Amino acid sequence: MIHRAKNLFPGISNGEFGIIDESSVPIIQSGDGARVWDSNGKAYIDMTMAWGSVLIGHANPVIREAAFNAAKNGTNFAALNTQMVELGDQIASISPCVEKIRFVASGTEATMLCLRLARSVSGKSKILKFEGAYHGQHPEGIASMVQLNDRSSTKANTSGTGAPWVKESVLVAPFNDLEATRALIKENAADLAAVIVEPLHRCLKPVDGFLSGLRKITQELGIILVFDEVVTGFRLALGGAQEYYGVKPDLVAYGKALGGGFPIGAFGGSEEIMEGVNESRYSKLNYSWSASTTGGNPVSCAAAMATIKLLSEQQNFEKLHRLGREFRKQLTEILVNNEEPFQVLGDGPLAQVVFTDRTINNSRDWGVADRNKGLLLMLQLIKEGVFLNPMGTKMYLSLSHGAKEMEEFSDKFSSALKSLNS
Ligand SMILES: Cc1ncc(COP(=O)(O)O)c(C=O)c1O
Repeated sequence: MIHRAKNLFPGISNGEFGIIDESSVPIIQSGDGARVWDSNGKAYIDMTMAWGSVLIGHANPVIREAAFNAAKNGTNFAALNTQMVELGDQIASISPCVEKIRFVASGTEATMLCLRLARSVSGKSKILKFEGAYHGQHPEGIASMVQLNDRSSTKANTSGTGAPWVKESVLVAPFNDLEATRALIKENAADLAAVIVEPLHRCLKPVDGFLSGLRKITQELGIILVFDEVVTGFRLALGGAQEYYGVKPDLVAYGKALGGGFPIGAFGGSEEIMEGVNESRYSKLNYSWSASTTGGNPVSCAAAMATIKLLSEQQNFEKLHRLGREFRKQLTEILVNNEEPFQVLGDGPLAQVVFTDRTINNSRDWGVADRNKGLLLMLQLIKEGVFLNPMGTKMYLSLSHGAKEMEEFSDKFSSALKSLNS
């Protein structure tokens, strides 16, 4: 299997895994709860959970059945369908900012449509994002993520984008630095269509006042604020980061956890802005094209409704937060005993280990960490039987992770550290 994969897939990967040692590339065959098995029958504790899209757990029978039942009546209509309308209704009642909504098939499409919409309704051309942020596979989503900026420049680094022109259209600010961001917004207000932010920037919490400060300045200057809630949506709270951090943007992008593992994305926001995709404006300058062939298919929507129902059951968010807190504490205890300079980052059911003694508030701080050590630790964990994304290094917990998995992970983590240090 591995040889066939090697012949077919660049880097023996379907994207962003970067496993150096070919013999340790797992080719996943099945999953159940918080575990996956590879094509050789080796079992792993899953700490990536399909990059966070399987928040309930693998092969959940309720989600499976909901999707299966929907599929019996047709898998896609590329049109409004009953599941799509019901799901839209649910999201509008859950999400603080959604008055109107459209469905797509991925987080990439959702953030891309938010930015296009912001540009067409404002008539302005520039976007401001935060250094190190990933918002999906479109050029603006990648700009200044692969390589940080030249420190003297607020223009985006275009590495990995295949789109040199984003240097002119994307401005980049340091996350959690409200003063620098405010100055950049003010200076460019006449050209700035939107500010896009992942409220929990990868695994970095917003410092007090940062998100509310962004909201205030964008509101004052009439600039659209977009929350990329592809990761935080339905994960930090049912109402996502908007509910959890208490700040309401103009537009929001969802994906990942919403679909329970099925492909889905959605973008929504105020009626005034969302009317920009209304086809009655077709061919006008303030119209934004939006159409997704498989976006909002009834199978993904049915899976999403089952996911929301499971998540909204009593105390599931409390459980996710408790799990995350205990997990970060457990990592901290092991690393302290190991006398490594480190930080454990994260919020809710997310965690990341970074090797530096410096407090990390943004990607620039992160840049000084020993990234190679982090990567080697992740690669060793895979050998020990922990499945994760060594390049992403963010670890995702799910409702299927329990005491048993945490205990096993702890042993494997200690053992991986020992091998690294020997
Ligand atoms: C914050 C964020 N936004 C957008 C995306 C893109 O989502 P997708 O991979 O579904 O296109 C991702 C994916 O990892 C993400 O982490």
